[in-house]
Amino acid sequence: MKTATTETVHITGASSGIGLELAKCFAADKSDLILVARNTEALGKIAEELRREYKIKVNVLTADLSLSETPEQIFTELKGRGLTVDVLVNNAGFGLHGEFAELPLARQLEMIQVNVASLVALTGQFLPGMIKRQRGGVLNVGSVAGFIPGPHMAVYYATKAFVMSFSEALHEELRSTRITVTDLCPGPTETNFSQVARSHRTRKSQAKKMSAQMVAEIGYQNFRQAKCFSVPGWSNKLLAIAPKFLPRAIIRRLVGKYNDLK
Ligand SMILES: NC(=O)c1ccc[n+]([C@@H]2O[C@H](COP(=O)([O-])OP(=O)(O)OC[C@H]3O[C@@H](n4cnc5c(N)ncnc54)[C@H](OP(=O)(O)O)[C@@H]3O)[C@@H](O)[C@H]2O)c1
Repeated sequence: MKTATTETVHITGASSGIGLELAKCFAADKSDLILVARNTEALGKIAEELRREYKIKVNVLTADLSLSETPEQIFTELKGRGLTVDVLVNNAGFGLHGEFAELPLARQLEMIQVNVASLVALTGQFLPGMIKRQRGGVLNVGSVAGFIPGPHMAVYYATKAFVMSFSEALHEELRSTRITVTDLCPGPTETNFSQVARSHRTRKSQAKKMSAQMVAEIGYQNFRQAKCFSVPGWSNKLLAIAPKFLPRAIIRRLVGKYNDLK
């Protein structure tokens, strides 16, 4: 639940898609923001609009989360600016479509750095302060992919399985504190994701997509309600519980077909 005093929310991947829409949700609630991504120009424009519309303070930080040193640099930079992070939104991430053995290994390791290692490192930098102040929370943007294996996007699905396991464990560890941890698990959403992942020619690309705004609003509400998981949309909820009813051999075969080329 949001406290009465102003909070500062740090959002990675705020330059587009779900991260941008989450920024608007927090801004509408009068939270101050720290927006992080690589695209400085996009972040600058977004910050200007949010300041004008919501009368909040917005800081911008250009950072590349595929570099292992970035989370510590962000922490030091924010300390230097005198900023305290109350809520951490780990949203930055990307996918890659293709066979594991054929995709460039370096790019897949970069994905693990952005989707997993930087998410853990940022949480490690900011969570102790939240616990000390007994205020705040972490909203991790995972995916419904975290519930199932993902042939043709093997590393991406595995990163989201990590995010799910990590978030759920932290949620439990922090149960007796005022800190809450939520794993937002969207399914197909209208953003730049499939262009970046090069998955726009797969069967999956024909699936009905939710808007980034709707996904963010549901995730935001569930975070404020201190839920452990947020799975927006009925079809995604069904997919999330499928492993309870279907044998894994069938699930991985179906997902493989879904992620295959049209
Ligand atoms: N769209 C979907 O269907 C879908 C479904 C489930 C989960 N998700 C998850 O939702 C999250 C947001 O993705 P999206 O769908 O909103 O896609 P998007 O529009 O492509 O947004 C991705 C964001 O991550 C940032 N980012 C990527 N690489 C980065 C890096 N190396 N350093 C810093 N920032 C980086 C991008 O900013 P810059 O390019 O400016 O750096 C951008 O702001 C991701 O974690 C994704 O896995 C998406």
